[in-house]
Amino acid sequence: MDFKLTEEHLMIRDAARDFAKTELLPGVIERDEKQEFPKELIKKMGDLGFLGMMASPEYGGGGMDTISYVLAMEELSKIDASASVMVSVNNSLVCWGLDTFGNEEQKKKYLSKLTTGEKLGAFCLSEPEAGSDATSQRTTAIDKGDHYILNGTKNWITNGSSGDYFLVIAQTDKEKKHKGINAFIVEKGWDGFEIGPKEQKLGIRGSDTHSLNFNDVKVPKENRIGEDGFGFKFAMKTLSGGRIGIAAQALGIAAGAYELAKDYSKQRKAFGTEICNHQAIAFKLADMHTQITAARHLVMKAAWDKDQGENYDLSGAMAKLHASKTAMDVTIEAVQVHGGNGYVKEYHVERLMRDAKITQIYEGTSEIQKIVISRSILKD
Ligand code: CAA
Repeated sequence: MDFKLTEEHLMIRDAARDFAKTELLPGVIERDEKQEFPKELIKKMGDLGFLGMMASPEYGGGGMDTISYVLAMEELSKIDASASVMVSVNNSLVCWGLDTFGNEEQKKKYLSKLTTGEKLGAFCLSEPEAGSDATSQRTTAIDKGDHYILNGTKNWITNGSSGDYFLVIAQTDKEKKHKGINAFIVEKGWDGFEIGPKEQKLGIRGSDTHSLNFNDVKVPKENRIGEDGFGFKFAMKTLSGGRIGIAAQALGIAAGAYELAKDYSKQRKAFGTEICNHQAIAFKLADMHTQITAARHLVMKAAWDKDQGENYDLSGAMAKLHASKTAMDVTIEAVQVHGGNGYVKEYHVERLMRDAKITQIYEGTSEIQKIVISRSILKD
């Protein structure tokens, strides 16, 4: 057993920390208020390699391990969870999915642009009536020989308007249930592909979330990922890794709020002393630190499992379940430590508290993680 990070891991963590402080921190409050994220910042993240960290170098990726990726995710999320969800979706859902299951042509044509930030990706599984119940896909893709005709609606899609390439899951043969589902690469701008209005959200407001409509969109057959009927497995396998990314995001939100609360408690005075000298505050910090450390160990273990070629469905689900609860608990307490100031935007903790909630919902709710965990521990 070795809990020590390598020199390379530390360099990646420090580079992400530095980028978050110098490039993401200025303007994070305004982006949250205005619900926007400038294209130039996405480009900067691409230039620095944050958008294709784990992808193969031959397609422009960084060829890094999952540990490096979660370290970067934690640092970005401490400051701006809107930026980190874009990074997470592009890295662990879109790039990883294409790199692992796409064919040579698809990788050359699409992956090589997604790893560099030239193009941004989105992952489209959820529907108005298929969120947790992901096998109930209503979006259809009818086989017309050399192409499919795609019809339906997708909901709550991260990078909905900023994205260029969309991995869309659809039902090609209803009779076959989940074995009749396929995944397709769809390009923005194709006839019949409409982007709906931006969702007005509680948190991660800088990131753009939209519904998408597909009206008789013609998708070439070469844009199907994998064998016919592979789409549901594609989504599940991809989401298993995605959940490690969101767990790291939740960890970062918690750690960011904790660091702010600790610093504040050493400066703010009440009853004649810094508030960290009151046990009421010191014990809160002790609880936060303990929860965060446990979450970090779970996140690292899941990332390590993935890097070692072990199954990571269980460890990824446990990491997400615990880290997202930690993010909620810690951010609420961080606001409490800040008192009245915690309720004010310039102290950042109220935003982190709002951002934390989504980590218990997207890429599988906490209840879905418990399904995955309980099925796994009860199967033998
Ligand atoms: N890896 C490989 N295959 C898997 C798998 C995995 N992790 N999980 C399930 N499968 C396979 C099963 O083996 C089964 O295949 P076979 O019949 O060939 O054995 C098939 O998938 C169906 O599995 P289940 O019978 O277990 O299906 P289910 O209906 O009970 O659902 C579920 C399982 C885990 C609840 C699943 O529906 C699920 O994960 N739901 C949540 C969906 C989700 O996470 N949505 C997030 C949206 S994406 C997002 O949020 C992105 C964003 O923008 C931030």
